[in-house]
Amino acid sequence: MVQLTSTDLRDEILALKRERNAIILAHNYQVGPIQDIADYVGDSLGLSYRAKETDAEVIAFCGVHFMAETAKIINPEKTVVLPDKDAGCSLEQSCPAAELDAFLRENADRNYYVIAYINCSAGVKALSDVICTSGNAVKIVEAAPQDRPILFVPDQNLGEWVMSQTGREMDLWQGACYVHVEFTRDSIARIREEHPDAAVVAHPECTSAVRLLADEVCSTEKMIDFCRSSSADNIIVVTESGMLHRLRKEVPGKNLIAGPTDTCACSDCRYMKLNTMEKLHDCLRDLKPEITLPEDIRRRAEAPILRMLELSK
Ligand code: 13P
Ligand code: SF4
Repeated sequence: MVQLTSTDLRDEILALKRERNAIILAHNYQVGPIQDIADYVGDSLGLSYRAKETDAEVIAFCGVHFMAETAKIINPEKTVVLPDKDAGCSLEQSCPAAELDAFLRENADRNYYVIAYINCSAGVKALSDVICTSGNAVKIVEAAPQDRPILFVPDQNLGEWVMSQTGREMDLWQGACYVHVEFTRDSIARIREEHPDAAVVAHPECTSAVRLLADEVCSTEKMIDFCRSSSADNIIVVTESGMLHRLRKEVPGKNLIAGPTDTCACSDCRYMKLNTMEKLHDCLRDLKPEITLPEDIRRRAEAPILRMLELSK
């Protein structure tokens, strides 16, 4: 097999993109070269809007499965490919649709209004009233009917944070992101010993102990605005490591420090990092792995996503 140089690989991806009439969407946690070649890099909310707006025939989605699946749900006529089909998410895995379905049946008398964080399967979306992302969760919960109890799935940490922001009680599914729960108060306090003036920005998937230390808790997209407008020279960024690539490009001049974890040396999401430039090339060439899903689930999952896009305009 001929090994392409990184420049040749980049050129070939761009040529395939033109040939296929494709758009490349990338999440903020993707590796640098993928972010650099993408048409758009952003958080789950921004990516959903871009996927909805595009007139490209093919969407090469460089992120994890639920993100590409969301793009397919709202674009059934388009071909959506994901460079690595095994790019999953621990939050998605923590809430199987069959378990949620059984829970809702057992608790039918509660008449729950189900708000699902976008990090879940199409099957879970199909059982939900509305979807939210970390970027709009507060707004979505504030818009929920007052006369029904809310079940928030699958992230207990995001749910807890939204409760603290809105004052609205919710029943929380006990799921978590395996990357963000590794950050601890102690690991951040240790960096602060070296940089006492450092500001801290953390993702709401972190535990409350970490969120309480943060100057700002927000989605990955809002981290860009926070770092840009903060007067601090040193900023500890408590989220997945890929975020640092975009931040360093868009907010040069600041010392952006990755939040370390106590149990592992880095904070890579093993799912996000399954995508590579080689796999992006191959998925544009072969138009697979392709995202497909049964039409009845797609239709039921589409309504709560469109409700979210409407509510968070
Ligand atoms: P954002 O929507 O804030 O980018 O978060 C997505 C995610 O998977 C965080 O782990
Ligand atoms: Fe899922 Fe966590 Fe990876 Fe985000 S960082 S995709 S929530 S496992």
